[in-house]
Amino acid sequence: MFSGDRRQFLRQAGTASLACSANLMLGRFLSAQAKSSSTEQISRIFVDSRRTIAPLDRNLFGSFLEHLGRAIYEGIYDPGSKLSDSNGFRTDVLAEIKKLGVPVIRYPGGNFVSGYNWLDGVGPKQDRPHVLDKAWNSMNSNQFGTNEFMAWCKAVGTEPLMGLNLGTGTPEQAAALVEYCNVDKGTEWSELRRKHGFNEPYKVKRWCLGNEMDGPWQIGHITATEYGMKAQDAARQMRYVDPSLQLIACGSSGPLMPTYLEWDREVLEQCYDYVDALSLHRYFGNTPEETGNDSEKFLAMNLTMDRQIAETLAVCDLVRGHKRSPKKLWLSFDEWNVWYRERNGDAVNGHRQEAPHLLEEVYDLEDALLVGGLVITLLRNADRVKLACLAQLVNVIAPIMTNGAGLFRQTIYYPYSWALQYAHGSVLNLLVQSPTYDVARMDPVPYIDAAGTLNPENGQTSLFILNRDLSKAREVEVVWEDNPGTRVVTSLVLTGNDLKAVNGFDAPQRVQPQSLDKPSTTGGRTRVELPPRS
Ligand code: AHR
Repeated sequence: MFSGDRRQFLRQAGTASLACSANLMLGRFLSAQAKSSSTEQISRIFVDSRRTIAPLDRNLFGSFLEHLGRAIYEGIYDPGSKLSDSNGFRTDVLAEIKKLGVPVIRYPGGNFVSGYNWLDGVGPKQDRPHVLDKAWNSMNSNQFGTNEFMAWCKAVGTEPLMGLNLGTGTPEQAAALVEYCNVDKGTEWSELRRKHGFNEPYKVKRWCLGNEMDGPWQIGHITATEYGMKAQDAARQMRYVDPSLQLIACGSSGPLMPTYLEWDREVLEQCYDYVDALSLHRYFGNTPEETGNDSEKFLAMNLTMDRQIAETLAVCDLVRGHKRSPKKLWLSFDEWNVWYRERNGDAVNGHRQEAPHLLEEVYDLEDALLVGGLVITLLRNADRVKLACLAQLVNVIAPIMTNGAGLFRQTIYYPYSWALQYAHGSVLNLLVQSPTYDVARMDPVPYIDAAGTLNPENGQTSLFILNRDLSKAREVEVVWEDNPGTRVVTSLVLTGNDLKAVNGFDAPQRVQPQSLDKPSTTGGRTRVELPPRS
């Protein structure tokens, strides 16, 4: 019922696949990573502007807001607060997200969506029912629903990625929501929207066909074949209403699922021709089971995300072959983050309260470093991963935390904000040479991991570099293979002495970026020393 059950389920089901998920490095990354000779301590990043992976789709750095805990109520919407505007939107939170520039936000769930009746959240507010959200055992007043979310997105300058209920909901109800949102006028559901005071259609482009339907914890969980057929039916009905949609089918909710990849294959056998993308989810933890509480291993976990992407793509392309389809699916990594502390008991049980404190994970420096690594992984898979959502955005496993008086930025805010601020243009196919270290049940792990972009508009290259060395600074030489780098515009670093340091309302800036001494460039090479744990 709660997400805590998800964990318990995985623990029972997954020890065999745990070992296999920790054994990594596939695809392009393997070919682009080269070990430097064992005696050489310097790392090198070779940049060639002619060698690119793909144009960067900015939706790679989307996020997620679920009706869960204090994400919506007390997070982005708090009509009783002095910090809110006349719509009830928290203006400080709105300004923060606008400044971040989040391009796309998934809503309304998550596990929540699989029991959600979207009709409860539209129409006059005084008529909306207070309902029990069974996924999180919480009360939902429905004062914030589809129209409020669309207005909030507009105010923030972001695009909605709408989740559909394919748990208790039917394909017909899914198509009705598309009609409500996207049809101009003259149909039952478009007229209802107009009656509710919203004359203009929203033209929502991207839709998730359910959430984690492979999970026995999911309301309405069904088999892969049943889900694949339901997704196909929903997709067909939705496209009858609006043929321009981009549709994402539910893939496996993680590599530890016993049905991992087999679920994806069977689902796609049923609905490949009707969808555009397949979803992946992943949460990481520095736990005894996953890493043996070993921070060196934890910082290497983004490499298992590379592997998950490669394996899922292999299945997509296998089914493509079966179908002789000209269409190549893309991936939507629509939930990813660190999440392991607030996953059980009261952290996932709202006890039938409104806006309970759920999943309020407090992030430390090492979490932020791994999030940086995960951003690097997403960038180097940008040819097929076209959309991804940091799960989530406010108060719930989130970079932004609020109370009645304001907000603060958690540690993970920073690597995410750097991706949003500095990744532009094309993703570079870097060659990275680095000394490696050993951790249990993994291939040798490079100390230095990196991704980069080149913005053709201003000629600027951005490099995102993770130094996994916990004790030593690492010398990195950037080798400009074609266009010599002329000048370093900005260099920032996130580091600290204490991997477990956190921010909070009492110390909001304990962990925050510092400027790094400008690296020097001579003879087409830029040298920089990266502090340990950075
Ligand atoms: O993001 C929190 C939860 O994690 C989501 O509701 C669910 O999809 C996943 O299990």
